[in-house]
Amino acid sequence: MSSQASGGPDRWTPRGDARYLTEQAHKSCRQLGVERIDLWQLHRIDPEVPREEQFAAVRALLDAGVIRHAGLSEVSVADIKEASRYFKVATVQNRYNLSDRGSEAVLDYCTEHGIGFIPWYPLGAGGLIKGGSVLDRIATAHQATPGQIALAWLLQRSPVMLPIPGTSKVAHLEQNVAAAAIKLTADEYARLTRLG
Ligand SMILES: NC(=O)c1ccc[n+]([C@@H]2O[C@H](COP(=O)([O-])OP(=O)(O)OC[C@H]3O[C@@H](n4cnc5c(N)ncnc54)[C@H](OP(=O)(O)O)[C@@H]3O)[C@@H](O)[C@H]2O)c1
Repeated sequence: MSSQASGGPDRWTPRGDARYLTEQAHKSCRQLGVERIDLWQLHRIDPEVPREEQFAAVRALLDAGVIRHAGLSEVSVADIKEASRYFKVATVQNRYNLSDRGSEAVLDYCTEHGIGFIPWYPLGAGGLIKGGSVLDRIATAHQATPGQIALAWLLQRSPVMLPIPGTSKVAHLEQNVAAAAIKLTADEYARLTRLG
């Protein structure tokens, strides 16, 4: 569960003042019909609000039992270290997939510190499903789809990896879950890693 957007449907800006974060967390509890949210993520650090105010607000939500675990989204290693002075960072949700490795250092830090890493756009918003090059050949070898191979690579990349592929179809959901059973050989893994 994450919070914190304001604006129109196609336009939103981060909002991180303590009052708003607190209100939104309580509102999310009501909307979900739960007393406590198991995992709540600060969707963006608001550059217009002191960071200590935002991190202290998250700490207060944890202390009050409104949320059980807290995470961050679209952050750097320095951001994680800073937030960790206020609360235990349970997860980090950054954009990451086979062809988009901008968060490599963050992923390594999360792996080292046992922080769950949630790659958003794990299928490159559908782009990786189309396959191409080595992805197709490895998919054929496993009687799998290119998308499944992209997910299998993610899962093999780190033990803290928690991909959240988005789909509107049950058949795709089942296919995506089945990707967890695919074991890439060391050579396949290395070839895919070089793609990025
Ligand atoms: N933290 C952030 O800032 C942030 C930003 C954006 C998104 N997110 C989150 O990231 C998650 C994933 O994002 P996303 O859904 O945009 O991107 P994505 O998971 O990379 O790709 C989703 C696209 O892939 C298709 N797809 C999924 N499984 C498939 C399959 N087995 N075969 C064929 N097509 C398949 C979907 O179409 P179908 O519906 O046809 O399956 C959809 O078009 C979401 O939970 C989203 O909330 C987070």
